Amino acid sequence: MEDFYRDDDGLLYDRVKWHTRKKHAFIESYLNIWVENVRNHPPTLDIFDLFASTGLCYCEESAKYKLGEPTWNGSAILAAECLEHYSNGQKLFLNTFHQKPAICTAQKVNLERLLRKYSRITPIITTLPIEDAIDAARAQLSPTYPSIWILDPYSSSDLPWELVVKIGKFQGQFTTKKGQVRVRKPEMIITLMTYGLQMNIDINPHIVSYALGMPESDWRPKYDILMKKYDNTRKALIDLYAEKLTRLYEKPPIVIEVNTTEEAAIVYCLFLCTDSNAGHYLMKLKGLKDYTTWEYSWKADAKRISIEKKIPEGQSRLFDNF
Ligand SMILES: C[S@@+](CC[C@H](N)C(=O)[O-])C[C@H]1O[C@@H](n2cnc3c(N)ncnc32)[C@H](O)[C@@H]1O
Repeated sequence: MEDFYRDDDGLLYDRVKWHTRKKHAFIESYLNIWVENVRNHPPTLDIFDLFASTGLCYCEESAKYKLGEPTWNGSAILAAECLEHYSNGQKLFLNTFHQKPAICTAQKVNLERLLRKYSRITPIITTLPIEDAIDAARAQLSPTYPSIWILDPYSSSDLPWELVVKIGKFQGQFTTKKGQVRVRKPEMIITLMTYGLQMNIDINPHIVSYALGMPESDWRPKYDILMKKYDNTRKALIDLYAEKLTRLYEKPPIVIEVNTTEEAAIVYCLFLCTDSNAGHYLMKLKGLKDYTTWEYSWKADAKRISIEKKIPEGQSRLFDNF
């Protein structure tokens, strides 16, 4: 179990860099919006974390440089906290996978131990490679109701575009209180390892094609145009990915960039696809304040957001169609 830190109680922690903390703060702030703001007739909520790992993080740098607490919750436990405290939390689906079967089992046992303290959650834990995990998760999904999908791979090659599309299409229909029929889309938080893609853009372009779901003959001309605009490989890649997500989701994602501990380089980006105006609005209000750089914001619907902003004392009304 050399990959992990083990505490005195035998619990395993992923060994992470300090910048991982920013990722978790972002995920937590979005999940907290559900806990703190969705109060009027709260719909059920399911969370699917398909790259769950141990559920805990340990940061050596933090201990060494006294950056802050050296351990904190990973995505699986952040999701558990959300469902435990949100008034209508339902399923927690965790997939924890490792190439080595013994580590797979150890990760699962770790999650089971950690989840024992939650009284309102009945988790489903699988140990499958991502393709199979998606099918297993789909079998547990009620597409008519809200769901959040946390897609946090180590490398973009673990999450090819075709799998993002597959999840994005897990849609259902629901009727609002005003009788309008709407499409329910799964919300997604996706980690895109931009640094790895940047390194491969010329030497291994097929890796970029795999992540973007486009042959090089399609993405390269767009990339060249974006490079003229930005002169920055990362920004060009973010644009390409955001455009793909915008088409899939029919709404632009929120994108934030996460940089290394020394703030020197941007390692990866998080893309949040939410179909809720309120989700966008509140993320900008609360969830993004600690991030110095973020790329996309609401574009097409900016007007609607500024109108909704004027609703007196009614943040709850923002969530009517959540
Ligand atoms: C970045 S870590 C996830 C961290 C976790 N989301 C958290 O916040 O604590 C990526 C995880 O994906 C797992 N993984 C690697 N390849 C995978 C695959 N093909 N399918 C599913 N999981 C995979 C790794 O073993 C690792 O546990």
